[in-house]
This record gives sequence, C-alpha cells and structure tokens, in this order.
Amino acid sequence: STTPEMILVRTEGRVGVITLNRPKALNALNEQLMNELGAALKAFDADPEIGCMVITGSEKAFAAGADIGAMATYTFADVYVNDYITRNWETIRSVRKPVIAAVSGFALGGGCELAMMCDFIIAADNAKFGQPEIKLGIIPGAGGTQRLPRAVGKAKAMDLALTGRMMDALEAERAGLVSRVVPLDKLMDETLAAALTICGFSLPSVMAAKEAVNRAFESGLSDGVMFERRLFHALFATADQKEGMAAFVEKRAPVFTNT
Ligand code: CAA
Repeated sequence: STTPEMILVRTEGRVGVITLNRPKALNALNEQLMNELGAALKAFDADPEIGCMVITGSEKAFAAGADIGAMATYTFADVYVNDYITRNWETIRSVRKPVIAAVSGFALGGGCELAMMCDFIIAADNAKFGQPEIKLGIIPGAGGTQRLPRAVGKAKAMDLALTGRMMDALEAERAGLVSRVVPLDKLMDETLAAALTICGFSLPSVMAAKEAVNRAFESGLSDGVMFERRLFHALFATADQKEGMAAFVEKRAPVFTNT
C-alpha cells in the first residue's frame, strides 16, 4: 500500500492514532482522504497489537465537511449512479474495535458526521459542531439527519439542520453529542488516557460492549435487550471473564489475554 498523503498515522502503545492532515482546506473530506482514512482504520482493526483507535484533526479543524470544491459541479447522475462524495464513508461503520473522535475546532457537515460515526466524541473547549449543508442548497448526506437527532433529540437537530448554525462544545456536551469537554491543550492527553484504559480491558468484552450499544440504535428494546443478553452470556466462555472475576476476588490486578 502507498503512503497516505492526507492523514498521519501513528501508534501510542496499543492505540492507533489517525490525524486528518489537509490543513490548507481545514481537513475537507475528499475521496482520497476518506480512502486513506478507511484503509488506516481497517489496518488497525485487523492488527492484534491495536486495541482502540483515535481520529483527530488540527486545533483549528477536525474537518470542515465534505470538499465543496470537488462537489460543486456534480450532477444528480454523478452522485447517484457513482455514489460520489459518500461511497467510501461506510467503511468506518465496519470497524469493530472502538474508535474515539478527538475534536478541536470545526466539525461541520461531513466533519460532524464523521465524528458521529465514531463511538464517542471527546471535544476540546474550542470545538464547534454543525450541519451547515442547508446554506449550500443541499442537506447532510453522510448520516447527519439520522445520527444527530439520535444524539441530541429532534429540537436541536432540526435547529442545526435548518438554520445551519454552529453549536459550541458546552452546548454539544449538554445536548449529549459529546461525552466530555476538556481544555484544548489537554485534548490528546485525555483522549489517549481513555483509549489506553479501553486497551487495558479484555478485547472480546470491549468489542461486545460496542456491538451491544450500537444495537440500541438498530432495534426495539426487547430485541436489543435479548441481543445484549446473548453477548453477556457468551462472554462467560472467555478466559478473560474467569481472570477478571478471579482477580477481583483475590484483590489483584487482572491479566487479560484477549481470549
Ligand atoms: N470544502 C473545501 N474547502 C474548504 C471547506 C470545505 N468544506 N471548508 C473550508 N475550506 C477551505 C476554504 O475554501 C479555504 O481555502 P482557501 O484558503 O484556498 O480559500 C480554507 O479551507 C480555509 O477556510 P476559510 O478561509 O473559509 O476559513 P475561516 O476560518 O474563514 O472559516 C469555516 C472556517 C467557517 C469552517 C468555513 O471554511 C466554512 O464555512 N467551511 C465550509 C463548511 C461547510 O459548509 N461544510 C459542509 C460541507 S457539505 C457536506 O459536508 C456534505 C455532507 O454531508 C457529506
């Protein structure tokens, strides 16, 4: 595979860190960037040394949306038949290990949608979220009209999608879009600490927790609870369940083997 040009990829312990790196366009998300991001996520997901991933941007922008210049002349047939713009955005949904978005600066349009595709969002105090597509004569196209109301409810989702206004980090936290707000200079430390905590747990249980929480958005309560119960029962087949509970009883730290 070729070296990516629009993202930076590194590891911190067992955490795979992907930094969106197209500073001249505030990390506007074009085909190449999304392809590189998808490939990097898939590689980390398949790597047994990796337990969790982080996607971040720059201080000024997580991502200012899909690339408007690239989209400007597209016809209906271009975007419908060829599925330009969003065809490779679903890759992130197939990632089974946790993905945390560390957001500073603008997360607008497709940038906000990308952050919402992650498992949770940690925001710097300068973060700004919005779905301003309405100002361009379009609507969100990568899940914004669906994930935003699930995260913040109908009132704020309608407000943001219809007025195109931005929401700051505190409003986003109050509304439930982000899990925590931290000072800008602490964003990566806090996010990496969360990611490393996750990496310290048994991977089968981590993956099951992600799968079960995601199921809440795909099913009714009875089916969702049944889905959870089956995963819960299945985890009693792991060595790590025996180890985790034995360690608690013996008042020592567990040594998980991801088996
Ligand atoms: N696409 C392409 N280029 C973009 C971009 C985008 N989404 N957002 C910013 N840029 C570029 C600008 O064109 C500018 O480039 P030049 O220096 O070459 O002129 C550079 O990034 C810096 O941007 P600004 O000068 O505008 O910076 P600012 O600080 O004055 O404003 C901003 C920042 C408010 C984020 C503003 O750039 C902005 O409004 N960007 C567009 C946001 C937007 O509409 N996003 C939705 C896109 S549609 C979408 O995402 C569809 C979907 O659902 C999949």
